[in-house]
Amino acid sequence: MDTETNHIAHFPQGVTERPGENAIFIVYTLKDLPGTADAVKDVCANFSALIRSMTNRYPQEQFSAVMGFGAQAWGRLFPGRPKPAELEPFEEIRGPKHTAVSTPGDLFFHIRARRMALCFEFASILDRKLDGTVEPEDETHGFRFHDGRAIIGFVDGTENPAVDENPRSFALIGDEDPSFAGGSYVFVQKYIHDMKAWNALPVEEQEKVIGRRKFDDVELSDEEKPADAHNAVTNIGDELKIVRANMPFANTSKGEYGTYFIGYAGTFSTTRTMLERMFVGEPEGNTDRLLDFSTAVTGTLFFAPSFDLLGELGE
Ligand code: HEM
Repeated sequence: MDTETNHIAHFPQGVTERPGENAIFIVYTLKDLPGTADAVKDVCANFSALIRSMTNRYPQEQFSAVMGFGAQAWGRLFPGRPKPAELEPFEEIRGPKHTAVSTPGDLFFHIRARRMALCFEFASILDRKLDGTVEPEDETHGFRFHDGRAIIGFVDGTENPAVDENPRSFALIGDEDPSFAGGSYVFVQKYIHDMKAWNALPVEEQEKVIGRRKFDDVELSDEEKPADAHNAVTNIGDELKIVRANMPFANTSKGEYGTYFIGYAGTFSTTRTMLERMFVGEPEGNTDRLLDFSTAVTGTLFFAPSFDLLGELGE
């Protein structure tokens, strides 16, 4: 993109939307077939129109969808095109007790709406368009739990950048990488919780794990909050924030209780620093207590271009 084009406003995808009532998260890998790139480019070219159709048909349903690309897919689909500066395959983080695994992923979709029917319809349209050219890596259906709680019972999302903090300034790439301005680094991790162990912990102890009160979400004082509390470990300063839109998911009969973590950031290094503090600890060994009850089973980094760039990629 030449410098003149840089002055044109970028229209970001809906990366700073609220987590919503329902969400479908899909990670695909690409099949190495002659028609694969064309099928994906068709989705790129039509993505904003597909969203517009949903929002026009159902204006009250808070529908949104985000499309992202993994590092390897970017190279394969758009050869010769430069890559966003920080788009690399996620490098696993191995700590003394816990590991942030790295798992494959070429295409990512984050579909949100008040009603699951809309998420399903959109996902099924993508499925038809990509039919035969992709392999499913993971699909997780998340739901809003009561007043926005994670499945472990604590309100999740409170310290996300507030409206008056301009969430987009944290979630979007800016002038530091002008060709990709308005895009976002999307990091996803699927966590499974040990609910038996978690529920066996008295509420006062759970509050020390999270760093907030369970009932009313009030933050523990500095004196009350242990150094390995989740919100102590992940707070790396007011300048370094990400936009989270985690969702709970469950398969109760299978004993599966989880959190689908999703963080949008203008610089992946911010998210990575948080992960290193959780899994390795700062100082080393001060690992996030929440990880004693939570296992990351996936971990993949994607890049979600602006709508303008997405349209260009579809050409
Ligand atoms: C805060 C849940 C994983 C980053 C919180 C809070 C909860 C929570 C309940 C407190 C309320 C709030 O401020 O949102 C979870 C669960 C996770 C998870 C259940 C999965 C097991 C992660 C990961 C990251 C992260 C992987 C970063 C890569 C943060 C940040 C805060 C936070 C930045 C706000 C800290 C502050 O400034 O107070 N999380 N989280 N979380 N979490 Fe997580």
